Amino acid sequence: MKQKLRIGLVGSGFMGRTHALGFRAVGGVFDLPLEPSLELLADISQEAAETAASRFGFARATGDWQALVADPAVDVVDITAPNKLHAPIALAALALGKPVYCEKPLAPTAEDAFAMVQAAERAGVVTQVGFNYICNPILALAREMIEAGELGQIWGFRGIHAEDFMIDRRTPWTWRLDPAGGAGAIADIGSHIIGIARFLLGPIAALAADVETVIGERPLPGQPDARRAVAVDDQARLLVRFARGCRGTIETSWLSSGRQMQLEFEVIGEKGALVFSQERFNELRYYKVEPDRSRNGFRTILAGPEHPPYGAFCIAGGHQIGFNDLKVIEIRNFLAALAGGPKPFADFREAYEVQRVIDAALLSGREERWVRL
Ligand SMILES: NC(=O)c1ccc[n+]([C@@H]2O[C@H](COP(=O)([O-])OP(=O)(O)OC[C@H]3O[C@@H](n4cnc5c(N)ncnc54)[C@H](O)[C@@H]3O)[C@@H](O)[C@H]2O)c1
Repeated sequence: MKQKLRIGLVGSGFMGRTHALGFRAVGGVFDLPLEPSLELLADISQEAAETAASRFGFARATGDWQALVADPAVDVVDITAPNKLHAPIALAALALGKPVYCEKPLAPTAEDAFAMVQAAERAGVVTQVGFNYICNPILALAREMIEAGELGQIWGFRGIHAEDFMIDRRTPWTWRLDPAGGAGAIADIGSHIIGIARFLLGPIAALAADVETVIGERPLPGQPDARRAVAVDDQARLLVRFARGCRGTIETSWLSSGRQMQLEFEVIGEKGALVFSQERFNELRYYKVEPDRSRNGFRTILAGPEHPPYGAFCIAGGHQIGFNDLKVIEIRNFLAALAGGPKPFADFREAYEVQRVIDAALLSGREERWVRL
């Protein structure tokens, strides 16, 4: 008989929904010793929590996240609330020795993130952060190829995460613009490409960043004539130097007209190159340097059962997995670690390292200079 793991989820928006779907699906996709059960959902009010709980299949609902954390029937705390709430909720859960699954960015600043790392390491519990894109089987392949030396010496990295969901000046104020939650686009979406860069090539040792707020004020929700100044970045461009010696660029923007999910990278090596785009995330484009240039070119590798854990979802290559499946893999990693397996790559410490890069970029932008990490 499998051991039950009772989940307490805070937040039921975009990510809350994907986490709930993931916890429901994971046992059907992977054979795990733990069986998650949707125990308690907290949201901003009792009513909002009840609506989401009945939709997602949670047994109970509360309008108070503190009650959720303290509830003895909650074994694991899952945080999908706005960024400024991550640290208080996680610290409260860790103080009770409960494992935490938290969305990215981990915290408003690296200092806050470090306090979370220390609390987690003191409690000795498993943590997982929502860098779902690195759970893509084709990214595991990219990393394996880089580590096996198939690209030879790495000469460069070009990474970008650009979307356009903030391009309309009339888009009202949201928690994503709240400086109490940390940075803007560089934390909200830039954290993903920074995390991917680290996943593929290791630590970033130094950077120089140009960080920009383009739309200086936004209307308040429901009050189009009342405006609030925007203090966080809309876009950032980074020159980066990796500790392994190679260099690159990382760019991020939520004002990139026409781009809905331009999470892309190119890794350039002496013997070849890899190109990836999240909009076609079941593909990896691979260029192998060969003597006969007349026959040379990029080839497309399609994700399939040869790229674990794709085969857990589908026995046939090229049929493709989807965004929510990345969350299922992330949750599998978390549950496997809770059952005594290896710790997830994107734990609190890794998310803290990503946060250090974000903080360094903000400092570099402010002081217009290179910053060493
Ligand atoms: N991993 C990813 O791909 C990804 C994508 C989007 C968002 N995120 C992250 O997920 C988190 C949530 O983002 P979202 O897009 O789901 O936001 P959202 O606005 O859609 O949802 C936030 C939820 O938190 C709830 N909430 C707000 N204040 C609360 C409180 N005091 N107590 C309890 N619940 C409260 C809201 O009512 C809502 O249900 C953020 O940290 C964000 O950066 C990650």
